[in-house]
Amino acid sequence: MMEREASRTAMRVAVLRAAHQLIDGEPKILDDRVSAHLLDAQTFAGIGANPDLRSSRLESLRVHVLLRSRYSEERLEAAARDGVRQCVILGAGFDTFAYRQPAWSRALRIIEVDHPSSQRAKRDRLRAAAIAVPDNVSFIPIDFETTSLAAGLAAAGFDRAQRSFFSWLGVMVYLKEPAIDAVLSYVASLPAGSQIVFSFGSSDPTAAGEEDARLTAEAVAALGEPWLTRSEPGPLGAKLREAGFSEVSFLTPPEANARYLTGRSDGLPLVRRISVGSATV
Ligand SMILES: C[S@@+](CC[C@H](N)C(=O)[O-])C[C@H]1O[C@@H](n2cnc3c(N)ncnc32)[C@H](O)[C@@H]1O
Repeated sequence: MMEREASRTAMRVAVLRAAHQLIDGEPKILDDRVSAHLLDAQTFAGIGANPDLRSSRLESLRVHVLLRSRYSEERLEAAARDGVRQCVILGAGFDTFAYRQPAWSRALRIIEVDHPSSQRAKRDRLRAAAIAVPDNVSFIPIDFETTSLAAGLAAAGFDRAQRSFFSWLGVMVYLKEPAIDAVLSYVASLPAGSQIVFSFGSSDPTAAGEEDARLTAEAVAALGEPWLTRSEPGPLGAKLREAGFSEVSFLTPPEANARYLTGRSDGLPLVRRISVGSATV
């Protein structure tokens, strides 16, 4: 069987984070000076000249992508301050947290898990950009559809007796239900206080939002990465509780808007739907 290519949606997301740094105003929703270095010169140069990045669809998508990382990193900080020492970034793509670590994360062990070809592409880009991999960071290549997270993490010396933090951003929508359930039941089997922050593809309350979602679904399918599973907060919350999580919470639009988006001068749109949440064992 031919090996699957590196994720192209992961690079699209990196472009959105780099664009935020370059074309959006202050304060940054996510202060990420590393993403731009992971782009090739042509992609980087194209950002300022790409009017699509100012379309309402790509602004909403950009807000979603920035917000989910910000929310996850804030929860990780709280967990780290509370003594959590293992952080697993599932489907890491070009996530840059490990390469712009604040002081509070230096005591963490950070494990990036991704599809083997996507992980290889990221490590190549890091090398090409001369970005050093900090010594508290390691990599585990896994295909969630065929390999168990338990086996992959065990082989890398992950300590399953410790409370751990997982982030799983922009991945669930690309997986089939059994692969999603396998990841959730593994995390739910970890010690109490372990947590997963996740994002998911939910429906938008407006017709314009649903039309944007349709266009984005078409775009990612054309990249060979179709959305396979869309979820809604109600059933997803029930699934998480059934998997064994004791506490489930979602970032609601009023909360997201008040915390991250109100009063901006760059016109980035407010959030209309729930698409990010966290679950604690
Ligand atoms: C849209 S990208 C998101 C990347 C990153 N989490 C972020 O927010 O920037 C989707 C990621 O999911 C990973 N992915 C999708 N299907 C996967 C699978 N079956 N096994 C492992 N990783 C997978 C891709 O390799 C890619 O890195």
